[in-house]
Amino acid sequence: MKFSPSRLLTVLAVATGIAALPQSFNVTHHARSVTFTYEDSGVPAGYKDYPTTFVIHGYLFHSGTFRKLTPLADDYGLRLVYINRRGYQGSTPYNSTEVNTLQGATSLTDRTAFMNTEGVLLALAVDGLTQLLKLPSKGGVSVLGWSLGTNFALAFMASMDSDMNSAAKTRLQNSVRSVIILDPPNSALGIADPPGSYHPATDPTIPGTEKNFIFFRWLSGYFKHGNLSTRNFAVLEQVNPDPQRAATLDRMTGLDLIAISEVADGPRVEGAFAAPFWLDTLADLVNRSIFDPDLRAHWPKIEQNWILYGDSTNWNVIWPVWKMQERTEAMKKPRLGFELLKGANHFVSAGVSPFLGIGRSNTSICILQAMWDQPKLLMQRVAKIQGAR
Ligand SMILES: *[C@@H]1O[C@H](CO)[C@@H](O)[C@H](O)[C@H]1NC(C)=O
Ligand SMILES: *[C@@H]1O[C@H](CO)[C@@H](O)[C@H](O)[C@H]1NC(C)=O
Ligand SMILES: *[C@@H]1O[C@H](CO)[C@@H](O)[C@H](O)[C@H]1NC(C)=O
Ligand SMILES: *[C@@H]1O[C@H](CO)[C@@H](O)[C@H](O)[C@H]1NC(C)=O
Ligand SMILES: *[C@@H]1O[C@H](CO)[C@@H](O)[C@H](O)[C@H]1NC(C)=O
Repeated sequence: MKFSPSRLLTVLAVATGIAALPQSFNVTHHARSVTFTYEDSGVPAGYKDYPTTFVIHGYLFHSGTFRKLTPLADDYGLRLVYINRRGYQGSTPYNSTEVNTLQGATSLTDRTAFMNTEGVLLALAVDGLTQLLKLPSKGGVSVLGWSLGTNFALAFMASMDSDMNSAAKTRLQNSVRSVIILDPPNSALGIADPPGSYHPATDPTIPGTEKNFIFFRWLSGYFKHGNLSTRNFAVLEQVNPDPQRAATLDRMTGLDLIAISEVADGPRVEGAFAAPFWLDTLADLVNRSIFDPDLRAHWPKIEQNWILYGDSTNWNVIWPVWKMQERTEAMKKPRLGFELLKGANHFVSAGVSPFLGIGRSNTSICILQAMWDQPKLLMQRVAKIQGAR
């Protein structure tokens, strides 16, 4: 058996008790079979008709990022199933055609088809796992996408308007109650950077050797913004995290990092999602999946979708969420709710791990604070949305 570095780390994580080996599940679409691996919190003790949330992780961090929610599943009467996206933790990697599309070597039509296919594959996984795990239909299911997972949660919504297997469609229509987006960056919503915005990756005053470190500090920082109710771009602190609140990076152990990081090279191509050539495709996906009433009509059990975001997160989450709020307020029946998570940021912490960088490209480590430092806060909100206890 060949041990890739990621496999080795998973085995190490399992052996030291900090992780469970993910299970795998296959889906088939157009005669093509794709494997997804997943982790499951199990039936919440003492509950029969509990709701379930399928969780879709972000960039470079796999399902393990959410493991801190698992011990809370019983308290909140909510089951959690963390799905590893393509290329993470043994889920089927993108093939060469798909990598080309992701990296922009093809057309807008191809990119749209790519997202549609990913949406169908995820929808088939949600449907298949709902049956396999015998999730109670009374409780229903929701799908939550964090950060780059936004793209995939939206694609999941759009899958209803595709040539997906019709029996699966009907089952999903009966089971899905909500799609929840957690801390979406502007690029994932197809919104270009506004003029005058700051990003450490393009800051010429940061020396090359410091770039990674400062970038991840920024990404993992807690920002002290001004009055967010003004929705004024100028009140957002773009550059400097609050020095009073230490990034989780500084408090995490090496084992913590190993338990959540994907070290396989495959998923790195997803960095391209932040490139300008993806904006149109993703803006169109937002238009269809969130704002198109015809698509919504295909999801009869979804009363409302949600966007959750932290009040201490990066400007490039808060600002696009305001844009989404403006659009929502202009609609008669928007059926999109917003919740501000107090004290939460996007990534609590991130950094280059000495454990994972050996002999390979540098691996960046990011942790979502809402999951990592305040798992209860996130759990309360998600459980409330789904009508759990
Ligand atoms: C999924 O498909 C792969 C590849 O065809 C196969 O090796 C694996 O056993 C299948 N897994 C399950 C759970 O059926
Ligand atoms: C990759 O998968 C796509 C389906 O998404 C398929 O159309 C294509 O032929 C595959 N390419 C290769 C090189 O296997
Ligand atoms: C914040 O801004 C809102 C909207 O402009 C305003 O109504 C409110 O009074 C402000 N709050 C504070 C504490 O300044
Ligand atoms: C999305 O919808 C908005 C509002 O209707 C429109 O201005 C924009 O051009 C649309 N974007 C795409 C890519 O279709
Ligand atoms: C890793 O990062 C360091 C510091 O930024 C850089 O000097 C080095 O070249 C990087 N290594 C690789 C393989 O990218």
